[in-house]
Amino acid sequence: MQEILIIDFGSQYTQLIARRVREFKVYSEIIPCTAPFAEIKKRKPAGIILSGGPSSVFDENAPTINIELFKLGIPVLGICYGMQLITHLLGGKVTKAEKREYGKAILKIDDFSDIFNEIPDETVVWMSHADKIIEMPHGFIRLAHTENSSYAAIADRNKKIYALQFHPEVVHTQEGKKILHNFVFKICGCSPTWDMHSFVEREIEYIRKTVGKYRVVCALSGGVDSTVTAVLVHKAVGDALTCIFVDNGVLRAEEREKVEETLRKNFHINLKVVDASERFLRKLKGVKDPERKRKIIGAEFIKIFEEEAKKIEGVKFLAQGTLYPDVIESVSFKGPSATIKSHHNVGGLLKRMKLKLIEPLRELFKDEVRDLGRELGIPDEILYRHPFPGPGLAIRCIGEVTRERLDMLRKADKIVLEEIKKSGWYKKVWQSFAVLLPVRTVGVMGDERTYEHVIAVRAVHSVDGMTADWVRLPYELLEKISNRIINEIKGVNRVVYDITSKPPGTIEWE
Ligand code: XMP
Repeated sequence: MQEILIIDFGSQYTQLIARRVREFKVYSEIIPCTAPFAEIKKRKPAGIILSGGPSSVFDENAPTINIELFKLGIPVLGICYGMQLITHLLGGKVTKAEKREYGKAILKIDDFSDIFNEIPDETVVWMSHADKIIEMPHGFIRLAHTENSSYAAIADRNKKIYALQFHPEVVHTQEGKKILHNFVFKICGCSPTWDMHSFVEREIEYIRKTVGKYRVVCALSGGVDSTVTAVLVHKAVGDALTCIFVDNGVLRAEEREKVEETLRKNFHINLKVVDASERFLRKLKGVKDPERKRKIIGAEFIKIFEEEAKKIEGVKFLAQGTLYPDVIESVSFKGPSATIKSHHNVGGLLKRMKLKLIEPLRELFKDEVRDLGRELGIPDEILYRHPFPGPGLAIRCIGEVTRERLDMLRKADKIVLEEIKKSGWYKKVWQSFAVLLPVRTVGVMGDERTYEHVIAVRAVHSVDGMTADWVRLPYELLEKISNRIINEIKGVNRVVYDITSKPPGTIEWE
């Protein structure tokens, strides 16, 4: 199978390059720049892309690459740091620019023959660099320039080496897709044959080989990522996989039953359900501080998971549904230990139990995970679930977490979700939920004065959870939700709607 190999120098956009190539239906994989040269050679990729990165070629320990790479006859594209490295290694001159070029720039094309084929004379590109090229290596020609960079794009066509100062992978580069498309198809000669089906086949093969005769455990949360991970790993190793689902007492209504039905009934996966709600609620007793709630739940979860995993003979692997956005801020060439989701905090567990991680989704974006899930036959109802935080309803039950308060919140949450689904808004919003506030307000019901609890309703639009805006839900829908909550839940007499964006608020209240 043809592949484009991306050599990662630590740019936060590396995965975007891989994603763009996958969108062209060409397989692409990222390897750290520390990977042995022999491995790159052995794989015989159709093309190699050197990513950007935070380093300068002048840094003492600047990451580099074996210069033999340029003699393989395989097309190479260097982006930003990748360009500076090519120039530096092949005898050109890189210098520290007086002015850091950051943001939009107008690229003026000098040569339209291949990588800029069918690109307008002038186009907006996105720059983010301090160093720049002042002299090209021998054999290179200039393909484009900007006001600040005389060499914004260069190439040695004989050796099939191309280099760009800007980032074609980001959306702000207007013709970025087309430029990468030209590299992948016109220069590397790839054809669009890869799809999710091939991804599944390749991953299954890889997982099977990695796991061998050992066993795998997977912590199941009921969310999209862990479900897709479990089903994929199960396809690879069958009954050698055991999923563990911990009922921590702060789950949504019917969550446990739904997970059991999906995994056991639909996919026949070994599933161990641990009812630890008593244990969690005991630990949470009297705790009001949000961070303490999170820490208690995280630590207790790891403890229980470890106890259960130890009961399984021959376990050597932990499968985790880490997605690309979860690792986005880590510098990937430091190695896998830097990439564990901090709130999952499984680092200690891996060490204590001598487990190795399997993260089949680590290069995918959420929408790609959904495509993968569909390929695996997972129903849309699960694939389009809103995110749900690990500490569950505990961080939506502001103040003390008691069974009684959780019951109220659970009922309110169910009503919010039912109405949002019924009205067709579920798929249009990132997240919607109820929050129980630690205040009581006065009301009047019938002829009686009431003094009861308040539920806040929150619905937000977001692309990645990093920023968010509140959803302008129709008044009629809010009215319906409010009426149902007050009529159906004893102890609640007021409903408010949260109209805070993120920032300054966060999506969750704690
Ligand atoms: P915030 O509240 O930080 O949330 O704006 C951003 C997104 O992350 C989810 N979230 C969590 N997810 N464990 C998780 O798996 C957590 O501890 C956690 N805290 C927040 C939140 O629901 C939102 O989608």
